[in-house]
Amino acid sequence: MTELKGITILGSTGTIGVNTLDVVSRHANKYRIVALTANTGVDCLYQQCIDFQPEYAAMADADSATQLEEKLKSAGQKIKVLSGIEGLEQVSSLHQTDYVMAAIVGAAGLLPTLAAAKAGKRVLLANKEALVMSGSIFMDEVRNNGAELLPIDSEHNAIFQCMPDDFSKGLKNTGVEKILLTASGGPFRNKSLSELKCVTPEQAVAHPNWVMGRKISVDSATMMNKGLEVIEACWLFNTDPDLIQVVIHPQSIIHSMVAYNDGSVLAQMGNPDMRTPIAHALAWPERIVSGVEPLDVFEVAKLEFEKPDFSRFPCLAMAYESLKIGGTATTVLNAANEIAVDAFLNKKLGFTKIADVIEKTLESVSVQKIISLDIILDADKQARLMATDYISQLGASA
Ligand SMILES: NC(=O)c1ccc[n+]([C@@H]2O[C@H](COP(=O)([O-])OP(=O)(O)OC[C@H]3O[C@@H](n4cnc5c(N)ncnc54)[C@H](OP(=O)(O)O)[C@@H]3O)[C@@H](O)[C@H]2O)c1
Repeated sequence: MTELKGITILGSTGTIGVNTLDVVSRHANKYRIVALTANTGVDCLYQQCIDFQPEYAAMADADSATQLEEKLKSAGQKIKVLSGIEGLEQVSSLHQTDYVMAAIVGAAGLLPTLAAAKAGKRVLLANKEALVMSGSIFMDEVRNNGAELLPIDSEHNAIFQCMPDDFSKGLKNTGVEKILLTASGGPFRNKSLSELKCVTPEQAVAHPNWVMGRKISVDSATMMNKGLEVIEACWLFNTDPDLIQVVIHPQSIIHSMVAYNDGSVLAQMGNPDMRTPIAHALAWPERIVSGVEPLDVFEVAKLEFEKPDFSRFPCLAMAYESLKIGGTATTVLNAANEIAVDAFLNKKLGFTKIADVIEKTLESVSVQKIISLDIILDADKQARLMATDYISQLGASA
């Protein structure tokens, strides 16, 4: 009998976490859950603990961890409960964990995901913000500790599937000419600038093709998600932004493409369901059943492609720009975006002002060369303070 692979899921109560558990539950002969984590979602994490019987559960929020511990104890469960960022780092590096699904949303995922890389695990990366903010530091930890990095973002997973085997040495001499990174265009693809000014959080989180957490849904609506993905792709595929072309593809059936110098364009297709990339990354280089319905090409019938409009979606342009600037510019971009999106979701900032807050923050925080983790954490902190300050200055006009 083959040994079961032990899995830690960072952010198990989120959309990606729940989809991961769905795939894992179909393969009890291959995987076992070692640890599950959340922030404050006690009830959901408790139920997952009952259903999947991990050895550990960890919660970033200390009060929530105490509540979970009491609940589990009263139910006669012996699951060990950890708390705080240290608890999350600990469950990322357990010796019994082989694979870490990094599915915390935002910068909060950086340290536990880095801990997984440092411990030489297979890192299944959904938490793109961790890579966007830390770039070279993250990739160095992966390389230096023999970790494996497999992309979960459907686009990057598609690109990975279409890439030559030796892409990590750099795309020069591989025949790759271009990466075509697809984007659905989000719920406001055809809205004018004046219409965009009036959109509400409820409209922004209602994505036409994907069911996702609230933050990534807003990122998708502003197209910052695609900007973060361009940055993510540069690090994952060891390339520069000029080789990456964003293509609007409203049906979300082609998840991305790689164009070669002989005229071939390889595309990965499938129904828009995150269980496909999750199953791919879990089983790689093998294939396993994911639970996703097979693609009916006759039903899809039509695939459309458009160029992105940078003037209506300035977040995408700012992501390219911050990549060109380099250093901590992408850390600042990410932090300002997280603060602005949170303010938008809490109805303290208009939709189009998200881009204004990011632009202002990028102008105000000085860019540093990334030579240590402390420099990244400091840039993140400064950018959050600056963005928060700018939002409060905007006050009623926001
Ligand atoms: N959803 C998708 O289809 C999709 C696709 C590609 C990439 N991604 C990426 O995957 C990541 C997760 O996205 P999602 O849609 O699954 O998000 P989500 O549904 O909002 O779930 C976020 C998860 O992170 C936990 N979390 C939130 N704040 C935390 C904190 N401060 N410390 C520790 N844990 C915290 C949440 O716990 P609580 O439940 O306790 O709040 C939850 O488990 C994001 O980086 C996103 O960009 C998502």
